Amino acid sequence: MNLIASVDNNWGIGYKGRLLCRIPEDMRWFKEHTTGKVVVMGRATLESLPGSRPLAERVNIVISADANFFAPGCTVVRTPEELLEVLEQFDTNDIYVIGGASVYAMMMPYCHYAYITKIDHQFPADRHLANLDNQPGWELISVSEDKHHEDICFRHCIYKNAISPEEEE
Ligand SMILES: NC(=O)c1ccc[n+]([C@@H]2O[C@H](COP(=O)([O-])OP(=O)(O)OC[C@H]3O[C@@H](n4cnc5c(N)ncnc54)[C@H](OP(=O)(O)O)[C@@H]3O)[C@@H](O)[C@H]2O)c1
Repeated sequence: MNLIASVDNNWGIGYKGRLLCRIPEDMRWFKEHTTGKVVVMGRATLESLPGSRPLAERVNIVISADANFFAPGCTVVRTPEELLEVLEQFDTNDIYVIGGASVYAMMMPYCHYAYITKIDHQFPADRHLANLDNQPGWELISVSEDKHHEDICFRHCIYKNAISPEEEE
């Protein structure tokens, strides 16, 4: 299982229900990794997408505890247990956890790789990802060259989880 996120210098990921910034090359990176795959997200992240619509050409799985919440084009699950059960039918390498903060926190122990775009800037943020540089088991295995969008520098980083404790059991 994989995790994919864009973070700022404080590992911030969102503010007031939206992304911190939009970088077209980062959007392409996200699309390249997730197209044809399975994306897992929280209800708030689905609602942050344009028109609250699922991502095209991907299997969209959304978690919400609200029994009245349904989303066309998405598989909606109500509990983490139901989510794990639904995910069993897919190749774990094809699964991408795409946020937001609550779903990253919940699913991080199940992930083997994290595709992190590090944006060299500090934005106002009210949602964060755990700092993978301090998480036991997580190791930075690849860093791209510096890339630029307007006056912002960013790079694509890949982390590997050496422990994957939830699958060792
Ligand atoms: N930078 C990035 O890469 C990135 C990626 C994705 C999102 N974001 C940002 O992150 C923010 C959204 O994150 P968020 O943490 O507020 O919301 P979220 O994780 O997208 O969704 C939260 C919702 O998911 C459901 N949920 C979560 N855990 C659950 C559980 N254990 N059981 C049942 N349902 C559960 C609940 O839905 P119900 O309330 O319906 O029960 C909860 O309110 C936005 O600002 C978004 O733009 C950033």
